[in-house]
Amino acid sequence: MSILKDKHILLGVTGSIAAYKAADLASKLTQAGAQVDVILTTAAEKFVTPLTFQSVTGRRAYTDSDLWGGEAHVLHVGLGHSTDLLVIAPCTADTMAKLAHGLADNLLTVTALAATCPLVIAPAMDGGMFDAPATQANLATLIERGATIVGPAEGHLASGLLGKGRMSEPAEVLGRIRMALGKKEKLADKKIVVTAGGTQEPLDPVRVLTNHSSGKQGYALAQAALDLGADVCLISTPTALTVPVGARLVPVRTAEEMKNAVLAECADADALVMAAAVADFRPKHVAADKMKKRDGIPQIELEAAPDILKAVAGFRLALSEAEGSKKRPRVVLGFAAESRDLLDNASEKLKSKNLDLIVANDISTVDAGFGAETNRVTLLFADGRKESLPLMDKSEVAEVILRTVATLLE
Ligand code: C5P
Repeated sequence: MSILKDKHILLGVTGSIAAYKAADLASKLTQAGAQVDVILTTAAEKFVTPLTFQSVTGRRAYTDSDLWGGEAHVLHVGLGHSTDLLVIAPCTADTMAKLAHGLADNLLTVTALAATCPLVIAPAMDGGMFDAPATQANLATLIERGATIVGPAEGHLASGLLGKGRMSEPAEVLGRIRMALGKKEKLADKKIVVTAGGTQEPLDPVRVLTNHSSGKQGYALAQAALDLGADVCLISTPTALTVPVGARLVPVRTAEEMKNAVLAECADADALVMAAAVADFRPKHVAADKMKKRDGIPQIELEAAPDILKAVAGFRLALSEAEGSKKRPRVVLGFAAESRDLLDNASEKLKSKNLDLIVANDISTVDAGFGAETNRVTLLFADGRKESLPLMDKSEVAEVILRTVATLLE
């Protein structure tokens, strides 16, 4: 989670019952390495206390009483200026109205007015208030000025009504904060296609040939691309993982489906990161009905599955419009998961698949490769350069890889 490491985040909490969710958000931000300062409005203090936030952030939480203290004249300017991002979650209709109109009658709104950093707002309000013309007009003003609005979600509201007004979940708000920070990063405005998971090749309606890929490295790569500001398309087989906030998921199962999705998405992509464990072989015939034990042990004939990377990396950079779907992204990256002769196999694949970069992945130890939280990889470049990375978390490996992709795209 290095995008948040040492970032200075200012969290504004306003008077909504959803204020309890803000404590979770403060905790998540802190765990991700951010320095979180909190400002509570007077109404927020009715729901939660400064101590709640100080306990999870280890830093001071400010209230309106600080507005009238000795340091007041510098506090609002200082807080607003030293911060990388201001997030107001939950944000009431009242605070949204104040922000839209430039009112500055409490520590939070005075700080927001002085701040020049990105602003993320997670509205929370009761039935009808969000749809009210005044709130919608304020929302439009804030969006027009560049604020990121997260939610609100539909569901049960505190009043018992069903409707739009619930504050989005902290994980969603956190994801949108990461995206807002990423807008200044190297992959902003770039489209990155990431594949993840192990393909499933059907034998009959109930059985598949698959592999041990967990999708963890691919999902971490998608998150790293989002953190660097990219528009991310994640083409994935079913996994137990949560899709990173902001990634567009294209669900697939077979190598054939993955190939079609990759070719379609590559038409306007800047880079393809092919982390999926794609089948090399698949059953030649798929039984229409479940194969029965009473019919004896089946003989399964295999055929080659499509080699997606070979197809994409073989395309020329710019083809005619008619061949628009056969475009090679500027950077094409593959993975080589090997249990022996790692670098030889990887560099052979780098050449045969015409790649810009291959990530050689030693799967012979339990702390790397399939299912592990960590990975040990070597990056091999088309120009012969080689970079070995130590054992790292898959998220750290992902960050190094995506920063390398960004450099190759420069
Ligand atoms: O051919 P091999 O499986 O050894 O190469 C691994 C790399 O090629 C991975 O990046 C994988 O996603 C990709 N691949 C592919 N199509 C296949 C098999 C692998 O694109 N049928």
